[in-house]
Amino acid sequence: MNLKNRNLISISDYNKEEYLYILKLAEEFEKKPVQDIAQGKVVATLFFEPSTRTRLSFESAANRMGARVIGFSDAANSSTAKGESLADTIRTVSCYADIIVMRHPIEGAAKLASEVATVPIINAGDGANQHPTQCMLDLYSIQKTQGTLDNLNIAMVGDLKYGRTVHSLVDAMCNFNTTFHLISPDSLKLPSSVKMHIKKSNLTYFQYTEIQEAIDKVDILYMTRVQRERFLDVQDYEKVKNSYILDKSMLKNVKSNMKILHPLPRVNEIATNVDNMPQAYYFQQAQNGVYVRQALIAAILGLK
Ligand code: CP
Repeated sequence: MNLKNRNLISISDYNKEEYLYILKLAEEFEKKPVQDIAQGKVVATLFFEPSTRTRLSFESAANRMGARVIGFSDAANSSTAKGESLADTIRTVSCYADIIVMRHPIEGAAKLASEVATVPIINAGDGANQHPTQCMLDLYSIQKTQGTLDNLNIAMVGDLKYGRTVHSLVDAMCNFNTTFHLISPDSLKLPSSVKMHIKKSNLTYFQYTEIQEAIDKVDILYMTRVQRERFLDVQDYEKVKNSYILDKSMLKNVKSNMKILHPLPRVNEIATNVDNMPQAYYFQQAQNGVYVRQALIAAILGLK
C-alpha cells in the first residue's frame, strides 16, 4: 500500500483497503508509540478554529516519531489577521513544512488548500463538512471494541446536520454493511446527501427522535454535541441544545458488547455518571487518536 504524498480531505478520498491499512499501522503504533522514524521532518498544524484533541494529538503523534512541529492554534496570531488569503498562507507554509494539518471553519477550505499546496494536506475539520482523521480513529475504536467493522448496528445521536464527524463516519461505515440508527431532533436530521450515500450502498437506516427507541438494539452508540458554532440564530440553538442527555439509568438493557463513543468535546449530552460505566469508551477513543494520527503522518510521508 502506498499512501505517500496523498491528501486526506474527505474520508471518501481513501478506500476500504486504505482504511484497513491505516488501522493496521495504528495498531503497530499502539504497541510501540515511540518510533524515531520522522527525524528531520516538519509537520505544520494550522488551526483556524479551536481544538484540543485534534491539534494536540497530531502534535503528540509527530513528536513521538521525532518530527518537529510548527504552526498556530489561533489564526489571529497569523498574517490572516492582516488580510492574507488562505491560498497565500498555504503556499507559504508549503515552503516550511513536509505536511500540513489544517482545520478551518469554512466547508471546502481544505480542498482549496490542497489545490495550492506543494505538500500533502490533511483536513482536520472543515466547517460542517468532513473530519476524516476523527473518522479513522472512530473506525479504529469500533474495530478495537467490537473485534470487527462488519455487520454492526450503529446509533448516531444528536446534531446529525452539522456534525462533521457523523458525516465522515457514515460515509466510511457504508463500506462495512452497517445498519444505521439516526437519532436527532427534526431540525438536526442527517443531510439528504449523506442519507443518499447509505441508500446507494443498499444499506438500511432508521430515524428516531428518542434515544430509548434504539439504544437496546445497537453495538455502538455514537453521541455528539449540538454544534453551537454552526447556528446562524442562537435561539434555534437554545431550542435543541439539551435534546439528549445520556444518563447511567438508560444503560440497563443495552447489549453486552455495546460501547459509547463521542468525538468530544461534550457539553451536557453525556452525564458524568456514565463515565465509569463499562460502556463508556470516549476517553480511550481520544487516546486512540494519537496512534491513528501517527499512522497517517507516517503513511503520507512515505515512512511506512
Ligand atoms: N474531536 C475533535 O475534533 O475534538 P477537538 O475539537 O478538541 O479537536
